[in-house]
Amino acid sequence: MAVNRFGQTARKDLWWVRPLMVFIGLFSFIVYATWAAFQGEHYAIGPYISPFYSPEIFGNSPHSWFGPKPSWWPAVLGFSPALLILWAPGGMRLTCYYYRGAYYKSFWADPPACAVSEPRKTYRGENSLPLILQNVHRYFLYLAILFVIVLFYDAWKALWFVDPATGQEHFGIGVGTIVLTLNATLLGGYTFGCHSFRHLVGGFKDQLSRSPVQRKVYNCASCLNKRHMNWAWCSLFGVAFADIYVRLCSMGIWTDWRIF
Ligand code: FES
Repeated sequence: MAVNRFGQTARKDLWWVRPLMVFIGLFSFIVYATWAAFQGEHYAIGPYISPFYSPEIFGNSPHSWFGPKPSWWPAVLGFSPALLILWAPGGMRLTCYYYRGAYYKSFWADPPACAVSEPRKTYRGENSLPLILQNVHRYFLYLAILFVIVLFYDAWKALWFVDPATGQEHFGIGVGTIVLTLNATLLGGYTFGCHSFRHLVGGFKDQLSRSPVQRKVYNCASCLNKRHMNWAWCSLFGVAFADIYVRLCSMGIWTDWRIF
């Protein structure tokens, strides 16, 4: 059968459910993350900092690396510490091999699903502008690895609470500690299962079996890579939830229960 009208297909299953769910999931995340990034407040409490704001290069919380917003910052731009950094993990997700396949289908129907007709006649692929720019993915990966290290450091810092009476730091575990640790773990699973990471740690070699250590790392990355889609979604919801958790605790709406 000739299939050439948009959405025409011989498929009898509910092929549109998956792209619709992807659209709802990604669109909701983008709306929330954009809103949260522009708030510029309620992103830290005690030893916790929201992953949307970490590393806090400039800012007013005690987590800031280089102190408050610099005086030379143009007022017209407004300021939120998240805006200085979110382009990096955002770029990683935008250019991710999994997300590309998902949002090409659900956001611009190219095609909406396998064996379903698309709304255009030509196929430009990723060999010409603008989609050839997706090749920057490997560089976003290098940045994402640094972010994962920072987020694990944040999880470590989330184990040290200041006693308000004495001003002394002491070891403790709160629900927020678990939330931040889980978030860093999920983002680690997503990042180290990246196709580009797999290539970086051994995929480029002709005879990987000659380098046993490299082969082990490659096998680990391959193992994570098999579930890359699951890691992508879990880490997406995990990072949004970690921001919500810190935000609501900071606003006094939620109480951070201390487990230890
Ligand atoms: Fe998904 Fe690299 S392929 S993060």
